[in-house]
Amino acid sequence: MKRLSIVAANWKMNGSLALVNSMVSELNNVTLNENVEVVVCPSSPYLAAFNAASASTNLSAAFSLGAQNFSEHNSGAFTGEVSASMLQEVGVSYIIVGHSERRSIYNESSALVAKKVKAALASGLKPILCIGESEEERAAEKTEVVLAEQLQPVIDEVGIENFKNVVIAYEPVWAIGTGKTASPEMAQETHQFIREFIAKFDENVADKLPLLYGGSVNAKNCEELFAQADIDGGLIGGASLKAEEFKIICSAAKGK
Ligand code: PGA
Repeated sequence: MKRLSIVAANWKMNGSLALVNSMVSELNNVTLNENVEVVVCPSSPYLAAFNAASASTNLSAAFSLGAQNFSEHNSGAFTGEVSASMLQEVGVSYIIVGHSERRSIYNESSALVAKKVKAALASGLKPILCIGESEEERAAEKTEVVLAEQLQPVIDEVGIENFKNVVIAYEPVWAIGTGKTASPEMAQETHQFIREFIAKFDENVADKLPLLYGGSVNAKNCEELFAQADIDGGLIGGASLKAEEFKIICSAAKGK
């Protein structure tokens, strides 16, 4: 059975309407390999514009829209927040949850991340669940413990069977935006650990789970990273803002 590969663009708090329009027209020139999806996650104000540009250019359905953040609540007195059901209503399919910037800058705990994954699934969105260790944790050989501690609350909250609608992105914190990428071997070793961890609960789910690598992925290193047995694409920050580079990364992904 083939496993889906995904290339997801995390624009963070960058971009503009002009970039939305130019990116959609550039993506119209990309030929994706079989069993590959591309997800663009711009800031919330640009979600509708991305969908309008995709519709007016007939962008292939293999390109879809993701959001970067949302509330664990569905509605109510939460000024400034956006719910998963609202995002779903405006055409969002994927949602980034637990990014290390949300965990460290906005103090999002793994318990909150688990609640958000539940809320996303309840609204029919596919969470891109980000996990990863810090430089100190890797140096102290705590990577596997940290990843298990980030995964377990989500498994407890939503149940392993619901991971069939979850994507996991392994992003070592020390590799995000730093230009330091995990070597393909190191990334593969950690991805294999994550897949085996999930397989202890459900082998079938683990087999089909898209496991993305993130952290300074670029046009030069993507091919080797994506060639690893347990790496099913990437979550791309900086390089996803440059159409020429992002197109190369999209074309490098292959379904496994
Ligand atoms: P980067 O960001 O590609 O700029 O390292 C990745 C991410 O934060 O998702």
